[in-house]
Amino acid sequence: KTRILTGITTSGTPHLGNYVGAIRPALASAQAADVENFYFLADFHALVKCGDPARVQRSTLEIAATWLACGLDVEKNWFYRQSDIPEIPELTWLLTCVAGKGLLNRAHAYKAAVDRNRAEGEDDDAGVNAGLFMYPVLMAADILIFNANKVPVGRDQIQHIEMARDFGQRFNHLYGEHFVLPEVVIDDNVATLPGLDGRKMSKSYDNTIPLFAPRNELKKLIAGILTDSRAPGERKDTEGSALFQLYQAFASKEETAAFAQAFADGIGWGDAKHKLFERIDAEVAPLREKYEALMAKPAEIEAVLRDGAARLRATHATPTLVRLRSAVGLRDLS
Ligand code: TYM
Repeated sequence: KTRILTGITTSGTPHLGNYVGAIRPALASAQAADVENFYFLADFHALVKCGDPARVQRSTLEIAATWLACGLDVEKNWFYRQSDIPEIPELTWLLTCVAGKGLLNRAHAYKAAVDRNRAEGEDDDAGVNAGLFMYPVLMAADILIFNANKVPVGRDQIQHIEMARDFGQRFNHLYGEHFVLPEVVIDDNVATLPGLDGRKMSKSYDNTIPLFAPRNELKKLIAGILTDSRAPGERKDTEGSALFQLYQAFASKEETAAFAQAFADGIGWGDAKHKLFERIDAEVAPLREKYEALMAKPAEIEAVLRDGAARLRATHATPTLVRLRSAVGLRDLS
């Protein structure tokens, strides 16, 4: 069976970018025969940027409820919280010892922090925690521990998957063929979903549209999407339009073509935003209802997560670490 694995960091409220880039494609591919799916909440990763315990807890609940509301079947798929699997940080250390420091120096998120510091005349690593630097190794452990074949993610994560392959390959070279090298899966229809300001929709830019914002809030947020100042009747460009790209991510080919025509015909921005709101709301409204019902039962969500992790440890994570420990020369726990 092909193993498909993906995770979301529990540092905020799930947004349309997470849905379009990760949740929707991952659940769509779950329908195929001969696949085994792993969906998880990356709460260790959340600690890198978020020092707010209440927020991590809240986000964990929200992201779990989101997966479930979007149709994840916990009987047929693995669904778990990263920090419930202590074998993941254990494997992180084994991989740390084969990971090239030079490769980690080039990781986008770390490099961006260094570049910012340089621009401001600070020391390269001023204010950078080692968690940010090690982030790709932890992520490689998430993927390699379950020998995932495919990892559906948004484009921003491609480099991380490449690094996971690199660390896995080095480990295999030193200790024998233990790891499958994962392949990245990108939904070509949706490169990177833009946020309200036209940059990539991201918690760190504060430009997100929460996936399950109440209807009124969704409408208000969409009204705030940045557009140019062309008046109704003037031809609008689809190229580079966040509004258009958001619409495209939620519409069929035919609907998208009709929307492009409306742009050419000079649709007013207010009307275009209204169409976008209706398109998104049509897809999201039934899921929102389920989400709200789930959020009212946090104890049930907690039980589902614990059960998933316990079964996954017993069948996969624990035996894998027994093998890996003896492969590298640590005490044999079997
Ligand atoms: P995170 O939490 O930032 O995002 C979760 C998923 O959503 C995708 N995504 C987007 N896709 C399209 N457009 C956007 N604007 C957008 N914003 C976010 C991300 O690409 C990602 O697929 N490091 C990961 C979490 C992680 C993980 C893993 C993923 C930890 N371990 C192992 C896969 C496998 C992250 O922070 O994603």
